[in-house]
Amino acid sequence: MSIDQLIDSLASQGWYVWDDFLNLSEIHTIKDCIPDKLQDARIGHRDSLQGNKSIRGDQTIWLEPEMGDAVARYMDKMEHIRQALNRQLYLGLRDFETHFCRYPNGGFYKKHVDNPRGVGRRKITTVLYMNERWPPQDGGELVVYDHEDNHLFKLEPVAGRMIFFMSENFPHEVLPTENKRESIAGWFLTEKIL
Ligand code: OGA
Ligand code: MN
Repeated sequence: MSIDQLIDSLASQGWYVWDDFLNLSEIHTIKDCIPDKLQDARIGHRDSLQGNKSIRGDQTIWLEPEMGDAVARYMDKMEHIRQALNRQLYLGLRDFETHFCRYPNGGFYKKHVDNPRGVGRRKITTVLYMNERWPPQDGGELVVYDHEDNHLFKLEPVAGRMIFFMSENFPHEVLPTENKRESIAGWFLTEKIL
């Protein structure tokens, strides 16, 4: 698994799963930077927000490098990837926004598209999973579909695994989780349209 494979897969199929993107100790040091108090997740972009517990049940907090070295290192790594994607795929990615997410037992996120009409700035979605053990009975898988609603694949949210996909092209959902489920979602953003 490597940046070259990420770039090839994004270009050919629009998604890529990178197992062991971070190791367990890197995951733990990031978790140690996260404050206990999170906010109820909302629907939509950070500028047009609307709470809705029947669609998603997680709590989130936006990440900033000031939260600690481990968070800053993760953001540096994503910056490095942003530059590589721009060099090789000419995507014009300008920024990266990212938040930590925690689903409580029973939480889910109904099927949605991160950038449904393709007019938002979100170009590539990333989700890094942070759960050390994830037996099948815990549920909480990510299920990814194509635009014809064909089921493409299902992923267990195991620590260190990261998925990348084109934000406009893949409806996806989080199945109800039977355990606390932690992840870091992020979006590479295109230029702001003024
Ligand atoms: C999201 C999302 C998927 C996951 O935050 O938009 O779809 O597996 N997350 O946590
Ligand atoms: Mn999503």
